[in-house]
Amino acid sequence: MYYPEELVEEIRTKNDIVEVISGYVRLTRKGNGYWGLCPFHNEKSPSFHVQGDRQLFHCFGCGAGGNVFTFLMNYENYTFPEAVKVLAERAGVNLPEMESSEETRRMANRRARLLEVNKEAAKFFFYQLRSPHGEIGYQYLRKRELSDETIRKFGLGYAGKSGADLVRYLRSKGFEDELIKEAGVANFTERSGLTSQFWNRVMFPIQDINHRVIGFGGRVMGDGEPKYLNSPETPIFDKRRNLYGLNFARTARAGNVILCEGYMDVIAMHQAGFSQAVASLGTAFTEEQAMILKRYTENVLLAYDSDGPGVKAALRGIGILRGAGLTARVINMLPYKDPDEFMKNLGRDAFQERIDQAENSFFFEVRILERDYDLNDPAGKTSFHREIARKLCNFSEAVERENYLTAIADKYHIVYEDLRKLVRSVAAQTGLARPIERPKSGVQSRNTSQENVKRSQRLLVTWLLDEPGLYRKIAKYISPGDFTEELYQKVARRMFPELERGTFSPAAVISMFEDEEEQREVSSLFNTKLPQINTAAEREKAFRDIVLAVKRNSYEYYSSKLGSDVSALKQVIDGKKALEELAKAHISLD
Ligand code: GTP
Ligand code: MN
Repeated sequence: MYYPEELVEEIRTKNDIVEVISGYVRLTRKGNGYWGLCPFHNEKSPSFHVQGDRQLFHCFGCGAGGNVFTFLMNYENYTFPEAVKVLAERAGVNLPEMESSEETRRMANRRARLLEVNKEAAKFFFYQLRSPHGEIGYQYLRKRELSDETIRKFGLGYAGKSGADLVRYLRSKGFEDELIKEAGVANFTERSGLTSQFWNRVMFPIQDINHRVIGFGGRVMGDGEPKYLNSPETPIFDKRRNLYGLNFARTARAGNVILCEGYMDVIAMHQAGFSQAVASLGTAFTEEQAMILKRYTENVLLAYDSDGPGVKAALRGIGILRGAGLTARVINMLPYKDPDEFMKNLGRDAFQERIDQAENSFFFEVRILERDYDLNDPAGKTSFHREIARKLCNFSEAVERENYLTAIADKYHIVYEDLRKLVRSVAAQTGLARPIERPKSGVQSRNTSQENVKRSQRLLVTWLLDEPGLYRKIAKYISPGDFTEELYQKVARRMFPELERGTFSPAAVISMFEDEEEQREVSSLFNTKLPQINTAAEREKAFRDIVLAVKRNSYEYYSSKLGSDVSALKQVIDGKKALEELAKAHISLD
């Protein structure tokens, strides 16, 4: 950690979470805490909960949560050290100048230096655009109907006729050649040494959610190949995990996110007031990006090009969004090619109408499918219906499948019973309703048993937090090693000794993690909804089931590791013994 833990704890305890959050959100006292409208998603009734006793916040709507540092990181886009600094000042705590080992310093510095290079390069392009020889770039952007305010907001710039100028400028700022190259803004060539690949282009800085420049897209002015030239991936530029425009879209709170294909589309949308627009980074939309969007919304509107490749990309995007559990709808851009052109011709009100009329992604898929069949030919028609039936089988939930079946039969004038029969016959052939085919890698492939394992581990942590006295009763069966989820295990390693001493503070545990995403997950660990149970006997059974589930999973997990992990043997032996004892034991909750 950047600052010593005790210091971080001192700062945390000196900043009451209720007081700090009250500065941002109107909170009302109710029951065991304070409630307000969540600042991290769009809502009409309060599901944002702040607990003074535990010094935690949690939103039951969107899942945001953490301690006072997390709140500022989410709300103000601060990094962890920045949040610590601001709250230290607020509480009048002096922060020492940090000294760290040569190695850690070098590692942290490298990323910071790469960010500095990108930032300086963005500045350079920005000023070039405003210099006399940048006039051509400025005129290009104006011709594309971008206002001065928009150009400034997105930090657009211009790279002049020579790729050597940027390098000269960066050197003058004290950056070494190696670093400039690593930042992705220049390359070595035999002929001219280090020169930038960006020249004679208008420049679009790509920012991360904290508004830091991590790369560039450069567009030729007019025709030319390639149309857009993007920075290569670097240690700070991960194209799978960033989205253009998200630094603004994340606070738009429009209730949806609009996913576009191009940088220009995003900019045109923001200029028209749709600041919830984002785009992937010159590459196809990824699962990682879907999961990031999920932090902000459940509704994604696709504003892809209306041409062939655009439709293909939309179909692909729909699959990914569905796999991530997001609802996708498709905006019809016709008769225009993309949001940028639509906006220029018809304007924002017309676009808002198109948003309101956006098509359900399943209907969109079927409509596109229809194009491949000749519906005047009975055989063609049958194949089309069969294909629809096949798609319907992908809904694993019966109610959902039934709803779509009814709607599609209605829409395509298919006799309901006929389509139903088809669905049944397809289902029989393919082994009943298959679950949706999901992309192979990533989050989606996490199966439900994995989810159940995580869930019992989460429940156990929450329950122990609610009733710390229970720790004593399970300590002989459960150890931190039984939490096979890496993050949970970290928490348990810290939590168990503190429960033993009776000094456990969940808010302090959250500060162990510097990453917002991890803080959020740890916080959710402390806010899992416990089963609603009334009788004491049922409660005892529920608790015992959770303990057993955690232990059984741990036993299986370490058994599978016997060959490869020396510490597994002890876990397996202890696990077997504990399971046998647990089978006989009675855990009283009194
Ligand atoms: P304009 O033509 O300026 O309106 O751009 P656009 O945003 O409409 O571009 P288009 O729909 O052609 O492409 C969408 C996105 O794909 C762009 O924003 C780029 O991120 C990416 N892209 C387009 N052309 C290229 C290319 O030649 N190379 C690479 N790497 N990416 C490209
Ligand atoms: Mn365009």
